[in-house]
Amino acid sequence: MENQTIVGQQTKVNTQIFDAPEEGARYVAAKIAAFINKRNSEGLPTVLGLATGNTPIPLYMELVRLHKEEGLSFKKVISFNLDEYYPISPDDVNSYHYFMFKHLFSHIDIDRANVHIPVGTLAEHMINEYCEGYERMIREAGGIDIQILGIGRAGHIGFNEPGSQLNDITRLVTLNPLTISDAAGDFGGAEFVPRKALTMGVRTIMEARKVFLLGWGEKKAEILAKAIEGQVGIEVPASFLQKHKDTEFILDKGAASKLACCKY
Ligand code: GLP
Repeated sequence: MENQTIVGQQTKVNTQIFDAPEEGARYVAAKIAAFINKRNSEGLPTVLGLATGNTPIPLYMELVRLHKEEGLSFKKVISFNLDEYYPISPDDVNSYHYFMFKHLFSHIDIDRANVHIPVGTLAEHMINEYCEGYERMIREAGGIDIQILGIGRAGHIGFNEPGSQLNDITRLVTLNPLTISDAAGDFGGAEFVPRKALTMGVRTIMEARKVFLLGWGEKKAEILAKAIEGQVGIEVPASFLQKHKDTEFILDKGAASKLACCKY
């Protein structure tokens, strides 16, 4: 692992570069496990913000292993997922509900009552109130201790597409055409991808006390270089993380290949 402090346009960004995604995933899982174990020993809950997509799968595999083989208990963990397509049924294989149970929740001892994932089946007139309630639940849980993020090729975190503001909170958004085309394979064609989504806002994410943004492979290299070293602003919402006080970018060498600072 190489720890690089990279100079972004606003601040220095802490970036860890690994040979392979599994190594990066192990590093993040160990940090999460240490935090949960400490909180468990104090009798306190841990609040995790969780992401979907291919990127966090090796992390979830390692957390499941730590639970099964090393006794890591999620009984006192409270989770809030970043986002969900809209509209979508929780039983749909492409829903983030389905994803989270398949890759994580079905394999660990988390209390189902502590799992929160935005609901993709609400009537439109209920959405604003629901989103305010989601924010309130995060606050009442004590705020997010550790937030896991991937990055979309449009520069989104969660579904905060280009144009999202630093002050945005949980809300209904319209998906970017690049996001829709990237999801087309999963849905069997772009025409079947929901046009909208519910997502935590940039502000919701920025309020997390610790953030890990994971990125693997060369296809993420260009957008990661913009997010880490580029101008902070609404064109690349992930760039707002340059202003976050405790964010680590966790990359493999392919994902780091377009950073100006390093040659891989
Ligand atoms: C989706 C999710 C994001 C995720 C992104 C990247 O759009 N809403 O949270 O970061 O996809 O997906 P992947 O990890 O599969 O590249």
